[in-house]
This record gives sequence, C-alpha cells and structure tokens, in this order.
Amino acid sequence: MKYFFNPSDLGDLQQALLEAREVKADRYGFQHLGRNKTLLMIFFNNSLRTRLSTQKAAMNLGMNVIVLDVNQGAWKLETERGVVMDGDKSEHLLEAIPVMGCYCDLIGIRSFAGLTDRERDYAETVVGQFVRYSGRPVFAMETATVHPLQAFADLITIEEYKPVARPKVVLTWAPHCRALPQAVPNSFAQWMLAADVDLVITHPEGYELDPRFVDGAHVEYDQRKALAGAHFVYAKNWSCPGVTRPDDYGKILCDDRTWTIDAEHMSWTDHAKFMHCLPVRRGLIVTDDVIEGPDSLVIPEAANREISATVVLKRMLQEL
Ligand code: CP
Repeated sequence: MKYFFNPSDLGDLQQALLEAREVKADRYGFQHLGRNKTLLMIFFNNSLRTRLSTQKAAMNLGMNVIVLDVNQGAWKLETERGVVMDGDKSEHLLEAIPVMGCYCDLIGIRSFAGLTDRERDYAETVVGQFVRYSGRPVFAMETATVHPLQAFADLITIEEYKPVARPKVVLTWAPHCRALPQAVPNSFAQWMLAADVDLVITHPEGYELDPRFVDGAHVEYDQRKALAGAHFVYAKNWSCPGVTRPDDYGKILCDDRTWTIDAEHMSWTDHAKFMHCLPVRRGLIVTDDVIEGPDSLVIPEAANREISATVVLKRMLQEL
C-alpha cells in the first residue's frame, strides 16, 4: 500500500479487520518489517491520540520515528506557488517536501481544513503536494477532508462490540462552540458505507456532507427517528460543508442544544453504545453521565487507534 486515505486503499475490509484482530493479539509480531526504517510524522495541527497511537504503532513494528511540529521550531512554510516570498514565510513547501522525503521511508501528515475556501480544502492541496513531491508513501493523520486512521479504528471497535451481524449505526451531528472540519464525519460515513452496517446520518438542515463520502447514505433530519433502534451512536460536530449552502462553507449554522446526546437520547436507541473520536466537549456534544457510563466506548475506540495504525504501517512497510 503506497497511500492511505480511503477504505479502498486497504482492499477487502473484512480481510483488514481480520488483520487488525491478528495485530491486536500480537502487536509486536511484525518487528522485522520496520528495522532500519523511519517514519516521519508531520503535524500542521495539534494532536494527542494520532500522535501517540501512530508513534506507538511504528514502535510496535520496530521503526524509528521523527515527529515534526511544523508550527513549533520549523521554518514557516509558504504553500502557494507563484508568490513573492517577502513576508514571514522563510521556506517553500516545494523545497521542504523533497528534503523531508530524504530523511524517511514513510510520511504521515496532519493538515486540517482552513474552512474558508471549500475548493482548496476539498482538493487536498497541502497533502496532494506531499504525494507529488516527497517521493515517499504518504498516509493521512487527518487531512482537510478525511481521517481514515480514526474511521478504521471506529470500524474495528464496532466489529468488537456489535450485538447483531449487521448493526444500526447512527452518525449524529451535535452542537459545538467552534467551527470544526468535516474530515471525521466524512471518513466515518465513507467507511461505514463500505462496511457491513446499516448507517443512518442525522443533522440539522444545511449540514449535508459531501456526496463523494455519503453517496447512498440514509439521511434522517429528525434525530429522534434516526436514533430509534440504534446499536451505536456516533456523535460528532462539523461545520457547514457547503454542499446545499455554498456561501456558508465552514460556518456554524446551528446551536440547538437539543441535539446534545444525553440519557434521554440514548433511551430512544436499542441499548446503543456511545462513540466519539475525542477530544470531546462535554455538555455540548454529550453529557457527563453518557460519556462516563457503561455504554461509552470512547476509551476502547481510542485504544484501537494503535491497532488501525499498526495495520496501516504494516501494509505500507510490506510494499516498500
Ligand atoms: N481523534 C483524534 O484524531 O484525536 P487527536 O486530534 O488528539 O489526534
């Protein structure tokens, strides 16, 4: 595997889930693959889980790891071509990328959406330059539009806890005080549609996700109806994706706190498990009692980030 952005990059998802189970049973069983190989993790944005779990995955596989926080200690990078660099940006990404590629065998990138220019975000401008100019295999550690390591971990978690062969999984929008990207809901929907689950997406009008990720998904605007009979409730905030309201791309359209997941919402489900990718704002997305309750999967879900990353890095190392 040379690139990892979408579920199709893994091929057969059932096979990938079996591999995840194998890795979880013996996460150090493939150490020979990473010997004398270096992973470069590049962060344009903050992270706790992705940073730790991906580094741990690389160590599981015997790799060396370099972590670069672009905004802390590196030269400030220009990303646009054709500009006169007489501002505060000292280095162009087009030199920096091949230089970074010289020092590693695999590259992971975290680069969030700017949320001001939909075309630029959905073209994956920054990550696309790493794919073109680094000369190395590249994987997403959350890009402008996707977060596949999270979605794969979510799928592994659902596989582990599902009470029926084809569970009902509800992706529900929930309120937030800041405008957040759509990468997590995009990938979650995309991966659930590729998996053997019954996906329902619920959100207020205006929050329709990009068809390239949700094509064929059942959208139900009534949250209570959507949650009825759910086995998993996946809560997430996202800002306006600009699909039905192009002028509002990246904006907060709604602050309706009746969308916050509380015990009453969970009572509408079929004893559902609660999921969230974290970090989560308590009191906005979910109440304390739900996230701390026996049906909350947020910690096993985060733990599975190590497993999803180990499988992905293992696949990439096997094809170096
Ligand atoms: N879920 C997730 O990606 O967490 P971080 O932003 O902390 O990496």
